[in-house]
Amino acid sequence: MTKLLKVPNHIAIIMDGNGRWATKRGLPRNLGHKEGVNAVERTIKSCLKYGIRYCTFFAFSTENWKRSKEEIDGIFDLLRSYISKDNNIFIENQIKLSSIGVIDPFPDDLKKALNDLKEKTKNFDKLEVVFALNYGGRDDIVRAVNKLIKQGNEINEKDILLSLDTGDIPEPDFVIRTSGEQRLSNFLLYQMAYSELYFPKVYWPDFNEKHFVKALKAYQKRNRRFGGLS
Ligand code: FPP
Repeated sequence: MTKLLKVPNHIAIIMDGNGRWATKRGLPRNLGHKEGVNAVERTIKSCLKYGIRYCTFFAFSTENWKRSKEEIDGIFDLLRSYISKDNNIFIENQIKLSSIGVIDPFPDDLKKALNDLKEKTKNFDKLEVVFALNYGGRDDIVRAVNKLIKQGNEINEKDILLSLDTGDIPEPDFVIRTSGEQRLSNFLLYQMAYSELYFPKVYWPDFNEKHFVKALKAYQKRNRRFGGLS
């Protein structure tokens, strides 16, 4: 493992710019997503190399259902083939795979592939990769609050935090959104209260180890005060 001083424990990534990457080259949007999967694989390797413990990828949002059926099916196909390989990066490197969001509306074979790999990797602890699938930050909060209402007690901030889909992992220290857009787009809204945000001007399919290290160096310069004094 390559040691860099003070790396984030949890990185959360909004993988933006796949469509623009493809359009710029006269290619269909799904080829941008396909190349985006290679960037996911590179990033997971970088997480292993630099000792990141948790990495969450925003792979499909609650708003992405508004896209064409062709694009949605293309993203599902990419996900399915990425997690269905026998010798995949998770098994080979002892990486735990988990997911957040509501996967019920996903195709049955995709849900099965996901659940199988989650089951196979559940005791791995080198790195935890979280795929956000049919995930929305507001939806996460609403579902958490509804769970708590059923318990009938007065609730506090911690109760909500623990009832979110991310209840058993730490809040993200560092959020990266590629492509230059500076929005949160309904990602981990409650969990990002004190995250450091970073917006590199690179389309997701081009994101590589060099960009990753540059991001880590930017993080190291941040002075996190969590609302207190420095
Ligand atoms: C955002 O770019 C990207 C997505 C909505 C989908 C990302 C999905 C993948 C990379 C495939 C998932 C697979 C794995 C293994 C996690 P955009 O399409 O909004 O780009 P644009 O803003 O340039 O149009």
